[in-house]
Amino acid sequence: MYQEELKREVRELLRSRNAVLLAHNYMRDEIQEIADITGDSLALSQEAAATAAEVIVFCGVHFMAESASILAPEKVVLLPRLDAGCPMADMVSVEGLRELKGRHPGVPVVTYVNSSAAVKAESDICCTSANALRVVESLPDDEIIFVPDRNLGRYVARFSSKTFHFWEGFCPTHERMTTEGILRLKGEHPDALFVCHPECAPGIVELADHVCSTTGMYDWCRQSSARQFIIGTEAGILYRLRQENPEKEFILASPALFCPNMKLTSLEDIVHALQSMSPTVKVPEEIRSPARRALERMLAVPRD
Ligand code: 13P
Ligand code: SF4
Repeated sequence: MYQEELKREVRELLRSRNAVLLAHNYMRDEIQEIADITGDSLALSQEAAATAAEVIVFCGVHFMAESASILAPEKVVLLPRLDAGCPMADMVSVEGLRELKGRHPGVPVVTYVNSSAAVKAESDICCTSANALRVVESLPDDEIIFVPDRNLGRYVARFSSKTFHFWEGFCPTHERMTTEGILRLKGEHPDALFVCHPECAPGIVELADHVCSTTGMYDWCRQSSARQFIIGTEAGILYRLRQENPEKEFILASPALFCPNMKLTSLEDIVHALQSMSPTVKVPEEIRSPARRALERMLAVPRD
């Protein structure tokens, strides 16, 4: 009951502040339930760039709120939990990227959006898990530097003839899956299809029937005629999968698929953020301008 009151309070505050609530697909169920838009990193950055609202409440992690601030500098971007970071994004620094660029002069940098604004500002173009191959193939160059996710980079490289220079970053949540665990689940559920995120390690990807972004999983599982799915990404995705497909069964590929940062934000935090209009995320102009170029270049890559 208390939760229902909080949800109502959030919706009222959103109205009175002319605010939009954007939530990543990994957020807690109750936040996904009341969000204006839920989506993957690509959909949420497109929405941040397009929304008419004056305030964006970003329920996700820090780099996502930064992207919203980069694309919509005139708006107030609230990140209800400033401590919601992304360990993968923290694995690459500006200095480290400059050093890698120094070793491959003239080679363009493709940066996964799971990165800081400052790293994006050092990059030629961004990508998400939904468009990474399209982004890579949109470049005329035969060589690219790909940061920070080694797994997404290696997955994309399988479909490209370009030479890749990787950064050895990774998502600790997705890397907690084991091949033994997947093989055991496949044995227990022989009719189930296994779908996983490209942030998974290559040995896991090898076992998958399909590899895609979080929003890609909704589409693929909805369209599939299979009845059982083993899901290889963060647990938050199960909320909408189960809602949209009540007749299908979704089995999490590992109980360790739980991103602590994605689970930090609560309804209370959102109420507090909208009442106090803090904490905000604002990217300084000298970083915003080059970072925006990299993000907008990504958004301009045509869809298939
Ligand atoms: P997508 O929702 O873009 O697939 O990203 C997954 C992720 O790990 C976000 O932090
Ligand atoms: Fe970062 Fe992985 Fe959490 Fe996504 S799931 S925010 S990549 S640690």
